[in-house]
Amino acid sequence: MHIEKLSPNRLSSLPAFDDHEEVYVVSDRPTGLKAVIALHNTILGPAAGGCRFWTYANDEDALRDALRLSKAMSFKNAMAGLPLGGGKAVVWSERPVRDRTAFFSAFGRAVQSLKGRYITAEDVGTRTDDMIAVARETNFVAGLPAKAGRPGGNPSPRTAHGVFLGIAAAVKFALARTDLSGTKVAVQGLGSVGYALCKELHAADASLVVADLDDDRVQRAVAEFSAKRSTPEAVLFEDVDVAAPCALGGILNKETIPQLRAKIVAGAANNQLDNDHDGELLRLRGVLYAPDYVINAGGIIQVAAEYLGWSEDDVNDRLKVIPMSLQQIFEESNWRHLATNTVADTLAQTKLNRHLPARAAG
Ligand code: NAI
Repeated sequence: MHIEKLSPNRLSSLPAFDDHEEVYVVSDRPTGLKAVIALHNTILGPAAGGCRFWTYANDEDALRDALRLSKAMSFKNAMAGLPLGGGKAVVWSERPVRDRTAFFSAFGRAVQSLKGRYITAEDVGTRTDDMIAVARETNFVAGLPAKAGRPGGNPSPRTAHGVFLGIAAAVKFALARTDLSGTKVAVQGLGSVGYALCKELHAADASLVVADLDDDRVQRAVAEFSAKRSTPEAVLFEDVDVAAPCALGGILNKETIPQLRAKIVAGAANNQLDNDHDGELLRLRGVLYAPDYVINAGGIIQVAAEYLGWSEDDVNDRLKVIPMSLQQIFEESNWRHLATNTVADTLAQTKLNRHLPARAAG
């Protein structure tokens, strides 16, 4: 296995550099594994963030994705009040993966080589079985099957619950409603998070409009939650109270924002804004945007609890931070006339900065 730590010069020349501390490029010929492990900021603790298994056109694309995602993890973990820094891994292969266990075991060896400075877990394209393979080689991994009465396993239902609490907070703030009964929510993407979110929304008497590329998933939501069917292209522009992106990033941009009819955008997808300025476009249009890394922190809260040995009660208590942080962001955005993503970034950066002197002294 070849593991290259990018030199400070190479690192600072990358367009997505954003003050990353360390970045590693990994390749393992026998398994075909290629990986980037990015450690953005370890002021609050070891860098924690999932491992994404994706197809990239070239190594530069993978590098850019890893850097963008790991910075978001620093902000997400800080806003969720976790004693963890921000990091992320992306893995890919230039040939079909024949032995997935060997592939992820090789990734586990790369994680182990960082001696605990990076903790991995599931992300898009990876699942519990993959983390079991990673755990053959390292203990710096979470998202493993839950032990009785302890947090663990697939974090998606926890992510969905955090998003549900966040939607309730946004509806209270923007629409002055204290429950979700009758609230219309459009959900784009009915995967692990989107499906679990629909279940909670349906139980709260919200009415649903849904779409997914996979028609079986749509049919299931129609049958189980009396959801109305939309299309992947149109679902976020439906005449609803809340648009909940739970599929892709980059869906809020100068073309899509003018088409929104919802008063609130609040969903699980990472990197929803195409660029930071799109948050201001949403504000000017009168749309309340729940910053993605604040509302979708439920999964990392569970992962942190599993890794740090916290209880289920600890997880449930910490999930309450999500609506509280959103309320603070919404209020500050209102009185300072600033986009919610700008307010969130400033709050997260302030939390990180607060720890700088302690680190320098130590
Ligand atoms: P998933 O892969 O289980 O589900 C994604 C779903 O979106 C799939 O059903 C897919 O067919 C559908 N989809 C893809 N493109 C679409 C489109 N254009 N229109 C409609 N549907 C489309 O992923 P998961 O785990 O549910 O995650 C969803 C989003 O939430 C991702 O952006 C992920 O990064 C983010 N997220 C997930 C967390 C988790 O705990 N799983 C934690 C934090 C963020």
